[in-house]
Amino acid sequence: MEDYRDVNRANWDDRVAAHAASPDYAVSRFTDDPSFLSEVVSFDRARLGDIARLDAVHLQCHIGTDTVSLARLGAKMTGLDFSAPALEQGRRLAEAVGVDVEFVESDLYGAPDALGRERFDLVYTGIGALCWLPDIRRWAEVVASLLRPGGRLFIREGHPVLWSLSDPPREDGLLVIEYPYFEQAEPMVWDEGGTYVETDQVFTHNVTHEWNHGIGEIVSAVLAAGLELTALEEHDSVPWDALPGQMTDIGGGEFRLTDRPERLPHTYTLQARRPL
Ligand SMILES: C[S@@+](CC[C@H](N)C(=O)[O-])C[C@H]1O[C@@H](n2cnc3c(N)ncnc32)[C@H](O)[C@@H]1O
Repeated sequence: MEDYRDVNRANWDDRVAAHAASPDYAVSRFTDDPSFLSEVVSFDRARLGDIARLDAVHLQCHIGTDTVSLARLGAKMTGLDFSAPALEQGRRLAEAVGVDVEFVESDLYGAPDALGRERFDLVYTGIGALCWLPDIRRWAEVVASLLRPGGRLFIREGHPVLWSLSDPPREDGLLVIEYPYFEQAEPMVWDEGGTYVETDQVFTHNVTHEWNHGIGEIVSAVLAAGLELTALEEHDSVPWDALPGQMTDIGGGEFRLTDRPERLPHTYTLQARRPL
C-alpha cells in the first residue's frame, strides 16, 4: 500500500489554491483589516489568554490563517505542515500583512527533528489535524518534546463522536455511529472529490487515509507523554458545516446541529501543561 503521507499530501496540495481563494478562509480580510483574526482563533481567544511574546508553534498550520492570527496576538510564531504549497500560501500571507512567521515543511512526527526540542512555550493545533495521524500516543510525545518545561498545549478539535457519524448524514436526522470511535490500526480510506470550502474547482487527488481517536485515548496519550491536563471542554458548535443539511450557521464561523444540538459534542478544547 502507498504510504498514507504521500496519499494525504497529494490530496492537501491539490486543495490549497481553492482554500486560499475561498471566502471561508477569508485571506483578503487579513490584508484589508490589520486587526482581523480568523474565526477559529477568535473563538479560542478567551481560552488562550495573553500569548504576547510566547514562542509558539502551530502544528499542521495549513495556509497559515490561524498562524498569522496568533502572530497578530503577539506570539512569535512558527507554522509546520507537510504541504509545500500550503506553506507557500502561509509565507505569502505573512509577508502581505507584515508579520514575521517561520514556516517549516515537515511531517508531524518529524517535527522535533525539524524544529528542535524544548523550544516552545505554546503548541497550538487542531480543527482537522488529528484525523490525519495514525498514532495519537506518538502525536502526544511529539507535542511534549517540543514544549519547554512550563509550556502549554492548546488544541480545539472536531469531536471523535462527530467524526464517527454516518456520512452523508441521514435524511431522518438521526445521528448514527457508523465509523470507528476508537483508534484503529487500519485507516478509513475515503475517495471524495470535494472539500470543506465552497469552490467550483475540480480536484484530481481525492483519496485520503484517516483515523479517529477517542477522547479517552487523547487524554491518556497526553498524560502518558508527561503533560498535566489543565482543561477539557466539549462544545456544541464546530467551525465548518460538518453535517451538511443538518446544521445551522450560528455566526462567527460556527455551525450547530439544527435539531436537538444537545445530543452531540461537536468539538472540544483540551489544554495541558508540561510540568516545570
Ligand atoms: C484542516 S488543516 C488543519 C489546519 C487548520 N485547522 C486550518 O484549517 O487551517 C489540516 C492540515 O494538516 C496537514 N497535514 C496532514 N497530515 C499531516 C502530516 N502527517 N504531517 C504534517 N502535516 C499534515 C495538511 O497539509 C493540512 O494543511
